[in-house]
Amino acid sequence: MADLSTQYLGLKLKNPVIVGSSGMTGTVAGVVHAAENGAGAVVLKSIFEEQILHEMDSYLSETEKDNGNSFQKGYKSVLNEREYDYEEAYSYLADHAKDLTLRKFLSFVSEAKKAVDIPVIASINCTTAYDWHYFARKIEEAGADALELNVYVLPSNTTKNSAENEKVYFDIVKAVLEQVKIPVSLKMGYYFSGLATTAIELSKTGISGLVLFNRPFHPDIDINKMETHAKYLLSDPTEYSHVLRWMALLSGRVGCPLVATTGIHTGETAIKQLLAGATAIEVVSAIYKHGYPVISEIINDISKWMDEKGYKSIDDFRGKMNQQSIANPAEFERVQFMRLYSEIV
Ligand SMILES: Cc1cc2nc3c(=O)[nH]c(=O)nc-3n(C[C@H](O)[C@H](O)[C@H](O)COP(=O)(O)O)c2cc1C
Repeated sequence: MADLSTQYLGLKLKNPVIVGSSGMTGTVAGVVHAAENGAGAVVLKSIFEEQILHEMDSYLSETEKDNGNSFQKGYKSVLNEREYDYEEAYSYLADHAKDLTLRKFLSFVSEAKKAVDIPVIASINCTTAYDWHYFARKIEEAGADALELNVYVLPSNTTKNSAENEKVYFDIVKAVLEQVKIPVSLKMGYYFSGLATTAIELSKTGISGLVLFNRPFHPDIDINKMETHAKYLLSDPTEYSHVLRWMALLSGRVGCPLVATTGIHTGETAIKQLLAGATAIEVVSAIYKHGYPVISEIINDISKWMDEKGYKSIDDFRGKMNQQSIANPAEFERVQFMRLYSEIV
């Protein structure tokens, strides 16, 4: 039988199928289900910067009530204003609230780690370089094997140029890497004017992996209720191709391993991403739709295909179909099909 093991984040994974950060890995029971169904590793549900700020805000509002609004003077909502210029007492309380949220998360990390014998990767969702260096160190102390930074900058701020938006990624990575010894990967967005060069530059920062890509929730409008709502929370099985293109283009060019996420629902799409150069793949929506057993189905399909093709290890075929390896490299860069479009009437 083929050897499916792979090396990622300095860890030996028994196979390349990682359960991605989500509600599926948001409880110890979920992490255990993932391990029982054969996952190579898990990325825990992220702790969110907004979540910490929100809880700080609620906690501080409560405390203000209890203290007859004695902290009201000079106070601005943390969540809305991101104002860090507090009075000393306020700053103390904010730290306390932050620690409470973090403590809950840290005990989850250490319980998850104790419950399974596969690598446990903690995840933090950051939008600024705010305090993450401190949180990251605490997560390392809680026993996480590695850390996945989930960063998504939607370049919608009309007062910021692309260099300023990109800098956020570099600032966060730098702040975290200075503090932790465990390997760190970055789950990045794709809104860059120079996606390939930014990915290459990020891969040189000292991170141990790039996860392609963060999948944003898309807003929609209900035309009857005149309300907005999030749509397509779960991916569908055709969505893998955007990542496949970039996997094939970046594989062999970036200085760190690449991991694919989005739209991987079957062994077939997992194999495609490995052929395009992925070191591992992350699966989420397929588990929401079909349950944890889909993990072992994907693993079995990869194994069966490897046996059929005579591949003994993942390295035997990883990247075999990336842009640098195929006969016609233009295939992955083609974005318009003149003949195809002109023939469709
Ligand atoms: C309900 C749900 C919750 C998620 N929570 C997180 C999260 O906390 N952190 C994170 O980095 N990604 C989160 N994701 C994104 C997934 O990790 C993954 O990148 C995305 O769903 C694409 O993979 P898929 O096509 O296999 O679903 C979440 C996705 C879903 C559907």
